[in-house]
Amino acid sequence: MTKIIVVTSGKGGVGKTTTSASFAVGLANRGFKTAVIDFDIGLRNLDLIMGCERRVVYDFVNVIRGEANLNQALIRDKHNKELYILPASQTRDKDALTLEGVGTVLDELRKTFDYIVCDSPAGIERGAQLAMYYADSAIVVTNPEVSSVRDSDRMLGLLSSKTKRAEEGNGKITEHLLLTRYSPKRVSKGEMLSLEDVNEILAIPLLGVIPESPAVLKASNSGVPVIVDSESDAGQAYADAVARYLGEEVPLRFLEEKSNWLKRIFSFKEKEVV
Ligand SMILES: Nc1ncnc2c1ncn2[C@@H]1O[C@H](COP(=O)(O)OP(=O)(O)OP(=O)(O)O)[C@@H](O)[C@H]1O
Ligand SMILES: [Mg+2]
Repeated sequence: MTKIIVVTSGKGGVGKTTTSASFAVGLANRGFKTAVIDFDIGLRNLDLIMGCERRVVYDFVNVIRGEANLNQALIRDKHNKELYILPASQTRDKDALTLEGVGTVLDELRKTFDYIVCDSPAGIERGAQLAMYYADSAIVVTNPEVSSVRDSDRMLGLLSSKTKRAEEGNGKITEHLLLTRYSPKRVSKGEMLSLEDVNEILAIPLLGVIPESPAVLKASNSGVPVIVDSESDAGQAYADAVARYLGEEVPLRFLEEKSNWLKRIFSFKEKEVV
């Protein structure tokens, strides 16, 4: 049965689109037919990160308005034939998405796809609520800082009250925490919340920790989701998170500072000098 996953956060700029792109690639690489939908009307970041921006002719809003059919709007990924992207519209008004329209598109996608990944816009208003409404499971992307954790907590409230499942009393959405842009160095300096702090506040199952990594910007500049860069720490962390989502037991990585041993040598030398 098709699973609809919403990638959401509340706070903006925490890594939802980065996560949606890598998650969709990760699921498709495992052989699941996957569609990833950009709900961020007006911004259109997903197709840039997926490297298909020049191939966009029709978009999500065109389909909802009946100006194009789904087959015309879906873009097949260059590298993986199991993966399709439904881009957002850049120019139209944000009210172009309707609950019924979104429902119709998702029902159509359900016929052929195993997973549908919905990349939510920032905030907790209408756009974000439309992205989550039909979801079976939610990936709550959170950065290790107070404002992000607080907004994720508000999002958890909405997930348990404002979704179709909640309205129909049809079982709860499964919630997963993905802690992104984690910098062990800044955590140890006390500049960021630790994994334990965030876990304690949000208290939902942890899907993974994605380190702060220059590989993410490099990947989005080249239009290839970071999970494809299997040499990179962030790419590996996303692959681990996909594996955990699929029920595999994978130990957490990248929670320690990379250069711990170097740091120890330097602090030893500093002590010697003093
Ligand atoms: N693990 C990471 N390490 C370094 N930079 C990251 C990481 N994850 C995301 N970023 C950067 O953070 C910025 C925001 O990422 P992204 O666009 O995925 O966030 P978003 O939650 O989708 O934003 P919005 O709320 O505007 O839709 C981008 O510049 C991205 O490159
Ligand atoms: Mg985004």
